[in-house]
Amino acid sequence: MTTKRSGRAAAKPVPSLRPHVLVLHGPNLNLLGSREPKHYGLATLEQIDRTLMARAETVGAQLETFQHNHEGALIERVHQAARDHVDFIVINPAGYTHTSVALRDALAATAIPFVEVHLSNIYARESFRHHSYFSDLAVGVVSGLGAHGYELALEFALRHLQNRTSHGSQKAEKTH
Ligand code: DQA
Repeated sequence: MTTKRSGRAAAKPVPSLRPHVLVLHGPNLNLLGSREPKHYGLATLEQIDRTLMARAETVGAQLETFQHNHEGALIERVHQAARDHVDFIVINPAGYTHTSVALRDALAATAIPFVEVHLSNIYARESFRHHSYFSDLAVGVVSGLGAHGYELALEFALRHLQNRTSHGSQKAEKTH
């Protein structure tokens, strides 16, 4: 393919401005809908993911969701997110919240900003749930708002990325 050269310097490649968000669900969340509804509500994981997908589509964001019951698979998915240039992660680490240094380390290694979500209010439950290996690294934590918490976290992510991209383009304008 030949390209015409104009007199002006070739523009630098611009990274995609389309926000790319990954939603990660930890162990046992595949059972939502029937699992301890008094803590986790009646919405299934599929319903939650569909709602998030629909919201992302309205703003042209790319959204991927992933649930796994194994720690290593979640860690691999975080590594993959870095290779894919994911901009933001919404994660409910579920039981790994209270145990997994390794999943925490994966998020720290990628430095992808994330919001930690819990359907239940972990601070109103057993004391072993009061400690999270993720909260101090998270941009924020949503706990106790049921499935709505995921929607709020996604809303935050989209707004955060919107600000980032509009600031980015303002910077680009200033350099001209
Ligand atoms: C949870 C809370 C965790 O303590 C628990 O192990 C889960 C789900 C929540 O969404 O409320 O599996 O993360």
